[in-house]
Amino acid sequence: MNIPFLDLNKLNAPYEARFKKLFEHFLESGTYILGDAVNNFEQEFARYCGTEFCVGTGNGFDALRLIFEGYKAEGKLAEGDGVLLAANSYIATVLAVMHAGLKPVFTEAESKFFNIDLEKLDPPDTSVKVLLVTHLYGQLGPVEALSDYAKKHQLLLIEDASQAHGAEFKGKKAGSFGDAAAFSFYPTKNLGALGDAGAVTTSDESLAKTIQSLRNYGRKDAQHNTFIGLNSRLDPLQALFLTEKLKDLEELNQKRREIAKRYLDAIENPKIQLPFYAGSTNHVFYVFVVLVENRSHFLDYLKADGVGYGIHYEVPPYQQEALKRYNQLHFPVTESIAQSCVSLPLHPGLTEAEITRVIEVLNAYHA
Ligand SMILES: Cc1ncc(COP(=O)(O)O)c(C=O)c1O
Repeated sequence: MNIPFLDLNKLNAPYEARFKKLFEHFLESGTYILGDAVNNFEQEFARYCGTEFCVGTGNGFDALRLIFEGYKAEGKLAEGDGVLLAANSYIATVLAVMHAGLKPVFTEAESKFFNIDLEKLDPPDTSVKVLLVTHLYGQLGPVEALSDYAKKHQLLLIEDASQAHGAEFKGKKAGSFGDAAAFSFYPTKNLGALGDAGAVTTSDESLAKTIQSLRNYGRKDAQHNTFIGLNSRLDPLQALFLTEKLKDLEELNQKRREIAKRYLDAIENPKIQLPFYAGSTNHVFYVFVVLVENRSHFLDYLKADGVGYGIHYEVPPYQQEALKRYNQLHFPVTESIAQSCVSLPLHPGLTEAEITRVIEVLNAYHA
Protein backbone atom coordinates (compact mmCIF):
# COMPACT_ATOMS: atom_id res chain seq x y z
CA MET A 1 0.00 0.00 0.00
CA ASN A 2 1.34 3.45 -0.94
CA ILE A 3 0.26 6.25 1.38
CA PRO A 4 1.01 9.71 -0.02
CA PHE A 5 2.01 12.38 2.47
CA LEU A 6 -0.86 14.53 1.21
CA ASP A 7 -3.47 14.14 -1.52
CA LEU A 8 -4.92 17.54 -2.40
CA ASN A 9 -7.09 16.20 -5.18
CA LYS A 10 -8.77 13.84 -2.74
CA LEU A 11 -9.32 16.63 -0.19
CA ASN A 12 -10.93 18.90 -2.80
CA ALA A 13 -12.94 16.22 -4.60
CA PRO A 14 -16.00 16.51 -2.30
CA TYR A 15 -16.31 20.16 -3.37
CA GLU A 16 -16.20 19.53 -7.12
CA ALA A 17 -19.89 20.13 -7.90
CA ARG A 18 -20.07 23.19 -5.63
CA PHE A 19 -16.87 24.69 -7.01
CA LYS A 20 -18.11 24.28 -10.58
CA LYS A 21 -21.35 26.06 -9.74
CA LEU A 22 -19.46 28.85 -8.00
CA PHE A 23 -17.21 29.23 -11.01
CA GLU A 24 -20.21 29.43 -13.36
CA HIS A 25 -21.72 32.28 -11.32
CA PHE A 26 -18.33 33.93 -11.04
CA LEU A 27 -17.88 33.87 -14.81
CA GLU A 28 -21.32 35.34 -15.35
CA SER A 29 -20.84 38.02 -12.69
CA GLY A 30 -18.24 39.96 -14.70
CA THR A 31 -16.52 41.05 -11.45
CA TYR A 32 -13.08 39.49 -11.40
CA ILE A 33 -11.22 41.70 -8.95
CA LEU A 34 -12.31 42.17 -5.28
CA GLY A 35 -16.09 42.72 -5.07
CA ASP A 36 -18.74 40.86 -3.05
CA ALA A 37 -16.97 37.49 -3.05
CA VAL A 38 -13.94 38.97 -1.29
CA ASN A 39 -16.02 41.15 1.07
CA ASN A 40 -18.13 38.18 2.01
CA PHE A 41 -15.16 35.91 2.74
CA GLU A 42 -13.51 38.66 4.78
CA GLN A 43 -16.63 38.99 6.92
CA GLU A 44 -17.00 35.24 7.37
CA PHE A 45 -13.36 34.68 8.22
CA ALA A 46 -13.25 37.59 10.71
CA ARG A 47 -16.35 36.17 12.38
CA TYR A 48 -14.78 32.72 12.48
CA CYS A 49 -11.54 34.01 14.03
CA GLY A 50 -13.33 36.34 16.43
CA THR A 51 -11.76 39.54 15.13
CA GLU A 52 -13.50 42.65 13.92
CA PHE A 53 -11.74 42.78 10.58
CA CYS A 54 -10.19 40.61 7.93
CA VAL A 55 -8.40 41.87 4.84
CA GLY A 56 -7.85 39.36 2.03
CA THR A 57 -4.43 39.37 0.36
CA GLY A 58 -2.72 37.60 -2.51
CA ASN A 59 -0.89 35.11 -0.25
CA GLY A 60 0.33 34.55 3.30
CA PHE A 61 3.71 36.16 2.72
CA ASP A 62 2.06 39.41 1.64
CA ALA A 63 -0.39 39.25 4.56
CA LEU A 64 2.52 39.31 6.99
CA ARG A 65 4.47 41.87 5.03
CA LEU A 66 1.41 44.12 4.80
CA ILE A 67 0.94 44.05 8.58
CA PHE A 68 4.46 45.46 8.97
CA GLU A 69 3.98 47.94 6.12
CA GLY A 70 0.68 48.98 7.70
CA TYR A 71 2.31 49.73 11.03
CA LYS A 72 5.09 51.60 9.25
CA ALA A 73 2.56 53.69 7.33
CA GLU A 74 0.89 54.51 10.65
CA GLY A 75 4.21 55.49 12.24
CA LYS A 76 4.13 52.64 14.78
CA LEU A 77 7.12 50.86 13.23
CA ALA A 78 10.15 52.31 11.47
CA GLU A 79 12.71 51.00 9.00
CA GLY A 80 15.23 48.75 10.77
CA ASP A 81 13.08 47.94 13.82
CA GLY A 82 13.71 44.48 15.25
CA VAL A 83 11.23 41.60 15.11
CA LEU A 84 11.78 38.81 17.64
CA LEU A 85 10.99 35.42 16.18
CA ALA A 86 11.80 31.76 16.70
CA ALA A 87 14.97 30.51 15.00
CA ASN A 88 12.95 27.61 13.55
CA SER A 89 10.50 29.93 11.73
CA TYR A 90 9.55 29.08 8.17
CA ILE A 91 11.64 31.02 5.64
CA ALA A 92 8.59 32.95 4.31
CA THR A 93 8.01 34.42 7.77
CA VAL A 94 11.56 35.72 7.95
CA LEU A 95 11.54 37.04 4.38
CA ALA A 96 8.31 38.96 5.03
CA VAL A 97 10.06 40.74 7.92
CA MET A 98 13.07 41.55 5.74
CA HIS A 99 11.06 42.71 2.73
CA ALA A 100 9.21 45.12 5.02
CA GLY A 101 12.57 46.70 5.90
CA LEU A 102 12.63 45.25 9.41
CA LYS A 103 15.30 43.16 11.11
CA PRO A 104 14.69 39.54 12.15
CA VAL A 105 16.02 38.84 15.67
CA PHE A 106 16.28 35.08 15.96
CA THR A 107 15.78 33.36 19.27
CA GLU A 108 16.07 29.72 20.34
CA ALA A 109 13.11 27.35 19.95
CA GLU A 110 11.92 24.52 22.20
CA SER A 111 10.53 21.18 21.10
CA LYS A 112 7.21 21.06 23.00
CA PHE A 113 5.38 23.82 21.17
CA PHE A 114 8.14 24.16 18.56
CA ASN A 115 7.97 27.82 19.44
CA ILE A 116 10.06 30.56 21.05
CA ASP A 117 11.76 29.26 24.20
CA LEU A 118 10.69 31.90 26.68
CA GLU A 119 13.09 30.60 29.31
CA LYS A 120 16.01 31.42 27.07
CA LEU A 121 14.64 34.78 26.08
CA ASP A 122 16.37 37.77 27.67
CA PRO A 123 14.77 41.22 27.72
CA PRO A 124 14.90 42.48 24.12
CA ASP A 125 17.25 45.26 23.12
CA THR A 126 15.67 48.62 22.50
CA SER A 127 15.52 48.24 18.71
CA VAL A 128 13.05 45.34 19.03
CA LYS A 129 9.46 46.48 18.56
CA VAL A 130 7.61 43.30 17.61
CA LEU A 131 7.17 39.80 19.00
CA LEU A 132 6.22 37.56 16.10
CA VAL A 133 4.75 34.21 17.07
CA THR A 134 4.25 31.48 14.50
CA HIS A 135 1.85 28.74 15.59
CA LEU A 136 4.06 26.12 13.99
CA TYR A 137 2.70 22.77 12.80
CA GLY A 138 -0.86 23.78 13.82
CA GLN A 139 -0.30 24.12 17.55
CA LEU A 140 -0.88 27.42 19.30
CA GLY A 141 2.24 28.74 20.97
CA PRO A 142 2.12 29.54 24.70
CA VAL A 143 -0.07 32.53 23.93
CA GLU A 144 -0.58 33.82 27.46
CA ALA A 145 3.13 33.82 28.31
CA LEU A 146 4.03 35.35 24.93
CA SER A 147 1.38 38.00 25.35
CA ASP A 148 2.67 38.83 28.87
CA TYR A 149 6.19 39.14 27.46
CA ALA A 150 4.99 41.45 24.68
CA LYS A 151 3.07 43.63 27.13
CA LYS A 152 5.93 43.79 29.60
CA HIS A 153 8.34 44.99 26.94
CA GLN A 154 5.78 47.08 25.03
CA LEU A 155 6.06 45.08 21.83
CA LEU A 156 3.46 44.61 19.17
CA LEU A 157 2.33 40.97 19.21
CA ILE A 158 1.87 39.63 15.69
CA GLU A 159 0.82 36.09 14.85
CA ASP A 160 1.78 34.09 11.82
CA ALA A 161 -1.26 31.80 11.92
CA SER A 162 -0.62 30.29 8.49
CA GLN A 163 -0.47 26.76 9.89
CA ALA A 164 -3.11 27.05 12.58
CA HIS A 165 -6.50 27.98 11.11
CA GLY A 166 -9.07 27.27 13.82
CA ALA A 167 -6.68 26.39 16.66
CA GLU A 168 -8.30 27.53 19.88
CA PHE A 169 -7.36 28.38 23.47
CA LYS A 170 -9.86 29.44 26.15
CA GLY A 171 -12.49 30.10 23.49
CA LYS A 172 -10.23 32.33 21.37
CA LYS A 173 -9.00 31.35 17.96
CA ALA A 174 -5.64 31.67 16.23
CA GLY A 175 -5.55 35.08 14.61
CA SER A 176 -7.27 36.81 17.55
CA PHE A 177 -4.48 36.77 20.17
CA GLY A 178 -2.18 39.38 18.74
CA ASP A 179 -2.52 42.95 17.52
CA ALA A 180 -2.76 41.45 14.04
CA ALA A 181 -2.31 38.06 12.40
CA ALA A 182 -1.37 36.72 9.00
CA PHE A 183 -2.88 33.66 7.37
CA SER A 184 -1.85 31.72 4.29
CA PHE A 185 -4.43 29.74 2.35
CA TYR A 186 -1.79 27.92 0.29
CA PRO A 187 -3.47 24.75 -1.03
CA THR A 188 -1.87 22.44 1.57
CA LYS A 189 -3.13 24.44 4.54
CA ASN A 190 -5.99 23.32 6.80
CA LEU A 191 -8.04 25.95 5.00
CA GLY A 192 -6.51 25.78 1.55
CA ALA A 193 -7.43 27.57 -1.68
CA LEU A 194 -6.94 26.26 -5.21
CA GLY A 195 -4.12 28.68 -5.76
CA ASP A 196 -2.43 31.47 -3.80
CA ALA A 197 -4.43 33.35 -1.18
CA GLY A 198 -3.95 34.95 2.23
CA ALA A 199 -5.50 37.27 4.79
CA VAL A 200 -4.83 39.58 7.72
CA THR A 201 -7.07 39.47 10.78
CA THR A 202 -7.16 42.27 13.35
CA SER A 203 -9.53 44.20 15.56
CA ASP A 204 -7.62 47.42 14.93
CA GLU A 205 -9.86 49.35 12.55
CA SER A 206 -7.23 51.85 11.55
CA LEU A 207 -4.71 49.11 10.67
CA ALA A 208 -7.36 47.18 8.72
CA LYS A 209 -8.16 50.27 6.65
CA THR A 210 -4.50 51.01 6.02
CA ILE A 211 -3.85 47.44 4.85
CA GLN A 212 -6.98 47.49 2.70
CA SER A 213 -5.49 50.48 0.95
CA LEU A 214 -1.91 49.16 0.85
CA ARG A 215 -2.91 45.88 -0.82
CA ASN A 216 -4.43 47.92 -3.64
CA TYR A 217 -1.61 50.35 -4.58
CA GLY A 218 -2.24 52.42 -1.46
CA ARG A 219 -5.26 53.93 -3.09
CA LYS A 220 -7.83 56.12 -1.41
CA ASP A 221 -10.16 56.08 -4.39
CA ALA A 222 -9.87 55.51 -8.13
CA GLN A 223 -7.76 58.65 -8.68
CA HIS A 224 -5.96 59.24 -5.37
CA ASN A 225 -3.26 57.33 -3.51
CA THR A 226 -2.41 57.80 0.15
CA PHE A 227 0.41 55.24 0.50
CA ILE A 228 3.13 53.65 -1.58
CA GLY A 229 1.20 50.42 -1.77
CA LEU A 230 1.47 47.25 -3.79
CA ASN A 231 -0.83 44.85 -5.56
CA SER A 232 -1.82 41.97 -3.34
CA ARG A 233 -5.59 41.57 -3.59
CA LEU A 234 -7.33 38.35 -2.66
CA ASP A 235 -8.60 36.72 -5.87
CA PRO A 236 -12.43 36.58 -5.71
CA LEU A 237 -12.55 33.09 -7.18
CA GLN A 238 -10.32 31.85 -4.37
CA ALA A 239 -12.51 33.78 -1.93
CA LEU A 240 -15.55 31.84 -3.19
CA PHE A 241 -13.79 28.50 -2.78
CA LEU A 242 -12.51 29.46 0.66
CA THR A 243 -15.95 30.59 1.85
CA GLU A 244 -17.31 27.19 0.87
CA LYS A 245 -14.49 25.27 2.55
CA LEU A 246 -14.62 27.39 5.71
CA LYS A 247 -18.00 25.79 6.51
CA ASP A 248 -16.25 22.44 7.05
CA LEU A 249 -13.10 23.62 8.77
CA GLU A 250 -14.17 22.79 12.34
CA GLU A 251 -15.18 19.28 11.38
CA LEU A 252 -12.03 18.65 9.35
CA ASN A 253 -9.79 19.96 12.13
CA GLN A 254 -11.56 17.61 14.54
CA LYS A 255 -10.85 14.72 12.16
CA ARG A 256 -7.17 15.66 12.11
CA ARG A 257 -7.11 15.67 15.93
CA GLU A 258 -8.74 12.25 16.03
CA ILE A 259 -6.15 10.77 13.69
CA ALA A 260 -3.39 12.41 15.74
CA LYS A 261 -4.82 10.83 18.90
CA ARG A 262 -4.82 7.45 17.18
CA TYR A 263 -1.14 7.88 16.30
CA LEU A 264 -0.25 9.10 19.79
CA ASP A 265 -2.06 6.20 21.46
CA ALA A 266 -0.88 3.46 19.14
CA ILE A 267 2.66 4.34 18.09
CA GLU A 268 5.03 3.00 20.68
CA ASN A 269 8.61 2.99 19.59
CA PRO A 270 11.57 4.27 21.63
CA LYS A 271 13.29 5.30 18.37
CA ILE A 272 10.50 7.74 17.53
CA GLN A 273 9.75 10.82 19.63
CA LEU A 274 6.07 11.70 19.28
CA PRO A 275 4.85 15.32 19.44
CA PHE A 276 3.47 16.84 22.63
CA TYR A 277 -0.29 17.28 22.48
CA ALA A 278 -2.39 18.68 25.33
CA GLY A 279 -5.44 16.81 23.97
CA SER A 280 -7.36 20.04 23.43
CA THR A 281 -8.48 22.15 20.50
CA ASN A 282 -5.26 24.20 20.74
CA HIS A 283 -3.82 22.00 17.98
CA VAL A 284 -5.17 21.53 14.45
CA PHE A 285 -2.36 19.24 13.24
CA TYR A 286 -1.40 20.97 10.04
CA VAL A 287 1.42 18.47 10.22
CA PHE A 288 2.23 15.64 12.65
CA VAL A 289 5.94 15.92 13.37
CA VAL A 290 8.02 13.19 14.99
CA LEU A 291 11.70 13.40 15.88
CA VAL A 292 14.10 10.57 14.97
CA GLU A 293 17.83 10.29 15.47
CA ASN A 294 19.07 8.75 12.25
CA ARG A 295 16.70 10.50 9.87
CA SER A 296 18.09 9.31 6.56
CA HIS A 297 17.84 5.71 7.73
CA PHE A 298 14.25 6.31 8.89
CA LEU A 299 13.30 7.97 5.60
CA ASP A 300 14.71 5.06 3.61
CA TYR A 301 12.62 2.75 5.76
CA LEU A 302 9.42 4.82 5.16
CA LYS A 303 10.14 4.91 1.43
CA ALA A 304 10.61 1.14 1.26
CA ASP A 305 7.30 0.68 3.08
CA GLY A 306 5.39 3.16 0.93
CA VAL A 307 4.70 5.73 3.65
CA GLY A 308 4.96 9.31 2.38
CA TYR A 309 6.54 12.04 4.51
CA GLY A 310 7.47 15.70 4.59
CA ILE A 311 10.24 17.62 6.34
CA HIS A 312 9.29 20.89 8.04
CA TYR A 313 12.09 22.08 7.80
CA GLU A 314 15.55 20.78 7.03
CA VAL A 315 17.50 24.06 7.06
CA PRO A 316 16.77 26.79 9.65
CA PRO A 317 16.37 30.20 7.99
CA TYR A 318 19.50 31.69 9.57
CA GLN A 319 21.55 28.90 7.94
CA GLN A 320 20.17 29.51 4.45
CA GLU A 321 22.60 30.70 1.81
CA ALA A 322 20.21 33.58 1.10
CA LEU A 323 20.59 34.85 4.67
CA LYS A 324 24.40 34.91 4.70
CA ARG A 325 24.61 37.72 7.19
CA TYR A 326 22.99 35.45 9.81
CA ASN A 327 24.98 32.29 9.01
CA GLN A 328 27.24 32.68 12.05
CA LEU A 329 24.29 32.20 14.44
CA HIS A 330 23.94 28.93 16.30
CA PHE A 331 20.86 27.57 18.07
CA PRO A 332 21.42 23.97 19.24
CA VAL A 333 17.77 23.04 19.90
CA THR A 334 16.59 24.52 16.59
CA GLU A 335 19.35 22.67 14.75
CA SER A 336 18.54 19.41 16.48
CA ILE A 337 14.86 19.75 15.46
CA ALA A 338 15.89 20.55 11.88
CA GLN A 339 18.07 17.43 11.74
CA SER A 340 15.54 15.04 13.25
CA CYS A 341 12.04 16.19 12.22
CA VAL A 342 9.82 14.11 9.95
CA SER A 343 6.15 14.83 9.16
CA LEU A 344 3.94 11.78 8.79
CA PRO A 345 0.81 11.54 6.63
CA LEU A 346 -2.05 13.19 8.51
CA HIS A 347 -5.01 14.73 6.73
CA PRO A 348 -8.78 14.31 6.88
CA GLY A 349 -8.80 12.14 3.74
CA LEU A 350 -6.79 9.28 5.27
CA THR A 351 -8.67 5.98 5.29
CA GLU A 352 -8.90 3.65 8.25
CA ALA A 353 -6.62 1.18 6.47
CA GLU A 354 -4.03 3.90 5.81
CA ILE A 355 -4.03 5.03 9.45
CA THR A 356 -3.60 1.45 10.65
CA ARG A 357 -0.80 0.89 8.16
CA VAL A 358 1.13 4.02 9.24
CA ILE A 359 0.92 2.85 12.86
CA GLU A 360 2.05 -0.65 11.90
CA VAL A 361 5.03 0.61 9.90
CA LEU A 362 6.16 2.97 12.65
CA ASN A 363 5.90 0.34 15.35
CA ALA A 364 7.98 -2.06 13.30
CA TYR A 365 10.84 0.43 12.82
CA HIS A 366 14.17 -0.28 14.43
CA ALA A 367 17.35 1.64 13.77
C1 LIG B 1 4.22 29.75 8.77
C2 LIG B 1 4.05 30.24 7.36
N1 LIG B 1 4.23 31.55 7.11
C3 LIG B 1 4.09 32.04 5.87
C4 LIG B 1 3.75 31.24 4.82
C5 LIG B 1 3.67 31.84 3.45
O1 LIG B 1 2.43 31.71 2.89
P1 LIG B 1 2.23 31.80 1.29
O2 LIG B 1 2.90 30.62 0.70
O3 LIG B 1 0.74 31.80 1.13
O4 LIG B 1 2.83 33.09 0.85
C6 LIG B 1 3.52 29.87 5.04
C7 LIG B 1 3.13 28.94 3.98
O5 LIG B 1 3.61 28.70 2.96
C8 LIG B 1 3.70 29.35 6.35
O6 LIG B 1 3.54 28.05 6.61
